[in-house]
Amino acid sequence: MFQHVEAYPGDPILSLNEAFGKDPRTNKINLSIGIYFDDAGKIPMLPSVRAAEHKVVADAGARPYLPMEGAANFRTAVQELLFGADSAVVKAGRVVTIQAVGSSGGLKVGGDFIKRYFPTSTMLVSDPTWDNHKAVFEGCGLTVKTYPYYDAATGGLRFDAMIEALKAAEKKSIVLLHACCHNPTGVDLTQEQWQQLVPVLKERELIAFLDLAYQGYGDGIVEDAYAVRLLADQGLSFFVANSFSKSMSLYGERCGALSVVCPDAAQAVNVLGQMKATIRRNYSNPPLHGGQLVARVLSDPELRPMWEAEVVAMRDRIQFMRRKLHDVLSAKLPGRDFSYFLTQRGMFSYTGLTAEQCDRLKEEFGVYLVRSGRMCIAGLNTGNVEATANAIAAVLS
Ligand code: LMR
Repeated sequence: MFQHVEAYPGDPILSLNEAFGKDPRTNKINLSIGIYFDDAGKIPMLPSVRAAEHKVVADAGARPYLPMEGAANFRTAVQELLFGADSAVVKAGRVVTIQAVGSSGGLKVGGDFIKRYFPTSTMLVSDPTWDNHKAVFEGCGLTVKTYPYYDAATGGLRFDAMIEALKAAEKKSIVLLHACCHNPTGVDLTQEQWQQLVPVLKERELIAFLDLAYQGYGDGIVEDAYAVRLLADQGLSFFVANSFSKSMSLYGERCGALSVVCPDAAQAVNVLGQMKATIRRNYSNPPLHGGQLVARVLSDPELRPMWEAEVVAMRDRIQFMRRKLHDVLSAKLPGRDFSYFLTQRGMFSYTGLTAEQCDRLKEEFGVYLVRSGRMCIAGLNTGNVEATANAIAAVLS
């Protein structure tokens, strides 16, 4: 019956993470998946989230279904986090927010909606982008193409080429943009570059779809929402999927959201209605528990500042590891420029290591990087950074 079902080659990130789990070596180092590990190599349970969980569990009663669009307190808290407490677009009723199954769920619900209401639109993603973007949007039936982004020669951004490509894009193309901490390269647009992008989006009637999965890991919780607030202030209609996997260390709870900024409140009502229909067809309604943790952390006057300080500490630790790896590698290989470790932001850096060099790192040294050369800096710690640098130096020499 199933002879025609072909073998699944595996996912480049998740399968590698599984292989790491099965590797019996005790000195192995996981720099593959986008997860924040603390200096002891553990996924942290943030004290703010733990305290929120105690309160949520203490208050818990019956477990009814949530509405299709998710819990009202969660959705309101997300809008405030993304758009700001005094947001004009939120006050005008122009923003639709649904609770999603991680930001991946937000991408999927948004992609299904786009396929239905913009059936001829092409999805444009950065070259490169998160491996799963293409898969999710193609799974929605959309055609996915790329626009220039990463400059391998400089370890920076091909901004002029990106703008030229977007100026030449078909009207109503959907442009997937990483709002901060670009995955996989760590190369972000500056605030000035975001400002230069806005007229291009307007003139070409392009529809931005922001992916904000690493809020707080770049420059700060508010700073990393810059693109969201700029596009909203500039009167654009757009999508934004966001996640609490990384910022609250809540990976397995699948807490995320999709927001759509609409031209007016009446259109927002209809967009919300069709989002609900899309959700009902996909998974009916989102789970209860994780979203309530997020809502509690964001709205509790004691827990909110605690969480903000925890995000600062995680971001600072990554910065420290960037500096450390840069310094050790620069000392070992003086002819090479490792400054990209310092300029790139967030969890990831694009190392320029080839797939074969990544294979050697894994096989000979137990150091796991995605074969694109993406390194999750958040997997480094004071106990493994030196060994990582030694291994990289060995495969580069
Ligand atoms: C990553 O990029 O490693 C993370 O976002 C985890 C994932 O689902 O791929």
